[in-house]
Amino acid sequence: MKKNILLGVTGSIASFKACSLIGLFREKGYAVRCMMSRSAGRFITQLTLETLTGERVVRGMFRLSENSSPPHISLADEADVILVAPATADIIGKVSAGICDDILTSTVCAAGCPVVFAPAMNDKMFNNPIVREKIEHLRQNGYHFIDPAKGPLACGREGEGRLAPLERIVEETERVLGT
Ligand SMILES: Cc1cc2nc3c(=O)[nH]c(=O)nc-3n(C[C@H](O)[C@H](O)[C@H](O)COP(=O)(O)O)c2cc1C
Repeated sequence: MKKNILLGVTGSIASFKACSLIGLFREKGYAVRCMMSRSAGRFITQLTLETLTGERVVRGMFRLSENSSPPHISLADEADVILVAPATADIIGKVSAGICDDILTSTVCAAGCPVVFAPAMNDKMFNNPIVREKIEHLRQNGYHFIDPAKGPLACGREGEGRLAPLERIVEETERVLGT
């Protein structure tokens, strides 16, 4: 039986890498569905994600799914794993605080399956003690993290904050899925 990966895409400059990630998962036979955070549409289009996954992207909260349940509940129920890649500092902070103000944060909160975050951000953001504290808090509550890589960042600096290599994200997601 095909496993369902629910990919959460957020408003990071690395969001275009979600497209390659979808391809890697689909080549391995996984079904991939996407949800977008509030800001993700500033960086990548819904149409692109829908074309690559062959599935509708859920962006809004306030419309019932085909099975008449709230979209964040049905999305969470259908997923075998939720992967948030790239994950912004904002999403990490919101999930850690229990905030559910868009489809992505609400679905993660409603999840019964494992949730994996692959952060991507500027090195100062990643090393901000508040961000680190939120990551630690989530880790202690059973959420998985794939540490970002060191290297050139979109802002022109060098440091830790690049989205982890896609192969590592696939490997770690499969480890969590047990496949
Ligand atoms: C060009 C640009 C690139 C950005 N890249 C990142 C990023 O890689 N990581 C991050 O945490 N925030 C990044 N931000 C800031 C987020 O877009 C901002 O915090 C936003 O509120 C995140 O919303 P979301 O978490 O709902 O997607 C970037 C902003 C801009 C303008």
